[in-house]
Amino acid sequence: MEDPIKRHPTRTEQLDILASLVAEHVKDGESALDLGFGVGYVAHLILAKKPNLSIVGVDRKTESLDEARANFTGADIACVEGDLESLSDVALPADSFKAIYSVLTFHDLPDAAKRAVIGWSADHLAAGGFFLLYDRLRMTDAPLFPLQQGVWERIEREYGAGMRTAPDFDSYIADLGDANRPASLDEYRAWFTDVGLAFQPLHIHGNVALMAGARN
Ligand SMILES: C[S@@+](CC[C@H](N)C(=O)[O-])C[C@H]1O[C@@H](n2cnc3c(N)ncnc32)[C@H](O)[C@@H]1O
Repeated sequence: MEDPIKRHPTRTEQLDILASLVAEHVKDGESALDLGFGVGYVAHLILAKKPNLSIVGVDRKTESLDEARANFTGADIACVEGDLESLSDVALPADSFKAIYSVLTFHDLPDAAKRAVIGWSADHLAAGGFFLLYDRLRMTDAPLFPLQQGVWERIEREYGAGMRTAPDFDSYIADLGDANRPASLDEYRAWFTDVGLAFQPLHIHGNVALMAGARN
């Protein structure tokens, strides 16, 4: 399956880490929940490592879920249409999950919804379960922006493909909006700990992070 998301060359390695963790820790009889499932690319990476794993995917886009259902005939995948902004109202086939993860979706959500989804996830983790969040981080400090640009330039040289970039900090801020509102690492740390989750950034490359939470 081809990665539907371009302009994220570091995603291959970072998603391999996420997929490895889910495949390793979710045992037979347990399940994982994917928030912002899309066409199921992340599930595809996980199933390549553990084909019998049970995954529930939530997305609001009917067409993406239809494509996912066609992609996963024979796999233990349940595609559920629903809005993460009202996740409590979404009917899911299970009440708790060993792993809950979300990939490149949180930047679409308002901050109140990001917090609510983190809180919901904390409440729906099975014993020993963990929450993995992969997304772009908000950059907050103009003096550090040239260093971030240096990382983007290196990524383009090394990977032969570029990231979503901005020519300067003011343009970066101007590009933020309803469809592009990443939170900062500090905000995530606060939102995780507010709901009783220990917080650990597992892998950060430039402004893209894989973060983990688990109950203390
Ligand atoms: C950039 S795509 C990422 C898809 C997939 N996680 C991947 O990495 O390949 C973001 C996905 O989040 C979904 N999404 C965004 N906001 C949502 C919301 N409020 N409720 C449900 N799904 C949402 C979009 O429909 C889209 O499929």
